Amino acid sequence: MKIDLVPFDLRYADAIADIEKDSFSDPWSKEAFISSVTSPFTDITVALFYEGSVPTVCGYSVTVSLPPECEILNIAVARDQRRKGIAELLIQDIAERASKNGCDTLMLEVRISNLAARALYEKLGFEAVGIRKAYYRYPIEDAILMDKRL
Ligand SMILES: CC(C)(COP(=O)(O)OP(=O)(O)OC[C@H]1O[C@@H](n2cnc3c(N)ncnc32)[C@H](O)[C@@H]1OP(=O)(O)O)[C@@H](O)C(=O)NCCC(=O)NCCS
Repeated sequence: MKIDLVPFDLRYADAIADIEKDSFSDPWSKEAFISSVTSPFTDITVALFYEGSVPTVCGYSVTVSLPPECEILNIAVARDQRRKGIAELLIQDIAERASKNGCDTLMLEVRISNLAARALYEKLGFEAVGIRKAYYRYPIEDAILMDKRL
């Protein structure tokens, strides 16, 4: 399956919000995605696959880049497209762009109970560097702070 990574566009906002709702217990709203791209430091990258010539959104990432650090604020893949390497592709792309922008570290927070995401980050070389107590709501849960040197 060929995946294209493209910058955020308003026409993808509904599909992103649907994946987000299905992926998180405390999802971002569609408006939160739209307003986040108004910041010059924030990027949303959208993963698309094609059925014929029609693009379907299958994942996305949101990053904020403030050299020397780039933070992954959000990443998700449509439930029916998981375990096909799409998140790995998104993170490789983030790492390449962050490096070009002068960043030397990628960082993120992840729920302690999110074993799939933790396995993903560990596979890609992220290391746990701290705990943020009660960082998340709905349900309240600690975050593991992870980073990766580029
Ligand atoms: C976490 C998530 C983004 C992974 O997306 P994905 O496209 O399925 O991940 P990939 O196919 O690129 O997986 C890469 C590696 O991550 C690990 N991984 C991914 N999902 C996993 C799972 N359910 N269980 C165990 N390991 C997993 C594996 O090491 C995998 O490599 P492998 O398939 O060769 O074993 C996806 O499960 C998701 O959208 N979850 C809901 C949203 C979320 O939790 N986002 C992260 C917030 S911090």
